[in-house]
Amino acid sequence: MSENEGKQHFVPFDRPVRAAFIGLGRIYDLNRLAYVDNNDVDVVALVEPSEERRRQRALDWPTAKVFSSVEELASSGIEVDAVEVLTPIALHEEVVLSCLALGWHVNLQKPMTNDLQSAARLISSAESHGCQLRVMENYLFYEPLLRLKEAVDSGELGAVSGYHLKMVASGRGGWDVPGDTYEWQFEEAQRGRGILYFDDGWHKISTALWLFGPVKEVRAWIGSTEVIPGLAVDAPTTIIWEHENGVRGVWDITLAVDMYLRSDYYTNDERWEVTGQRGFARVNRCTGRGIQQPSFEVYLDGTMRSHHALDDDWASSFRDSGRHWLRYLRSGVGPLHWSAREAYDVQSLAMAGYESSARGGLGVSPSTFAPPLPSS
Ligand SMILES: NC(=O)c1ccc[n+]([C@@H]2O[C@H](COP(=O)([O-])OP(=O)(O)OC[C@H]3O[C@@H](n4cnc5c(N)ncnc54)[C@H](O)[C@@H]3O)[C@@H](O)[C@H]2O)c1
Repeated sequence: MSENEGKQHFVPFDRPVRAAFIGLGRIYDLNRLAYVDNNDVDVVALVEPSEERRRQRALDWPTAKVFSSVEELASSGIEVDAVEVLTPIALHEEVVLSCLALGWHVNLQKPMTNDLQSAARLISSAESHGCQLRVMENYLFYEPLLRLKEAVDSGELGAVSGYHLKMVASGRGGWDVPGDTYEWQFEEAQRGRGILYFDDGWHKISTALWLFGPVKEVRAWIGSTEVIPGLAVDAPTTIIWEHENGVRGVWDITLAVDMYLRSDYYTNDERWEVTGQRGFARVNRCTGRGIQQPSFEVYLDGTMRSHHALDDDWASSFRDSGRHWLRYLRSGVGPLHWSAREAYDVQSLAMAGYESSARGGLGVSPSTFAPPLPSS
């Protein structure tokens, strides 16, 4: 899918972008980093139903006005060019449609929405209103993963034979997550959109498409483990796929409820390892600080090269992804990572995985499974 599709109406801003945050919960703490000391943007408004959060976050932006809903902001007369939508997933469609109808460009947190029909409605609305809709993918801005892609693309590993992604969700360590954040995550799980495969897994699917291009076929076995009575988490889960270029990927998701994982953020132990005919390259960690060795390593011809000076703080990927978006609005220079149509490809692969699991692990082609989008 071309990221240029659907952006024909966009004229870059020749002044700082007037921006608003919509949703001031847990992940706002990292999304805000892109807006701090950034001449590309003026934060003019904050929108959040919780009074306590409005009060806390207003301290970050003394000149911004605060509102409890998008409607209140819209009727305030404050001019807004672009918004950062950081609401629970089930509200993405409703909130984004309101923003697009007001003519605001949108930087939306992943996952795009809960299903493909909803994603298609967002794309159609963005295109008909001539607005940019980006589904931000901070992992594509994480320096160790950027180095992994460079190693793959340079050909130094030889022809790629295959790769492996690993996620271990642990129950101990990391930052505090508010109770109401867990509540909507539990509701997501109940509607069949698990926190590991769908919510966090969105990033792993993104990196797969970014590294090796479209997937021809996916086979998934999505499991379930009850962690407290009535609440199940979507692990153990195992997914395999083959890209159109013939490269195969394997992704395993494991739960280790009692394991302590040192992390400044979520307790997620992640790895990527690409094997080529001559050597391999791997990213040893991302969100958490599982393996205490350099975050990126390349093995070739009997020698391991370890990269000791990368910016491998996960928060930096949010900062850089958000800065990229704001620079894009000022310059028009992409790629967006992801455009709404590219995000639809991510969503298609996620949904094809669910379909495969429902069919007992049979192969499903994402492009055949997902309804085609009308041309823009
Ligand atoms: N990129 C990543 O790695 C990453 C990590 C965590 C979360 N996320 C995503 O970010 C989004 C938000 O997650 P979170 O963990 O911050 O959730 P959260 O529950 O902590 O925060 C969401 C906030 O939105 C507010 N809200 C609810 N309805 C609203 C409305 N109509 N208008 C404005 N605000 C509203 C809530 O009161 C809350 O403060 C989700 O899509 C989630 O999947 C992404």
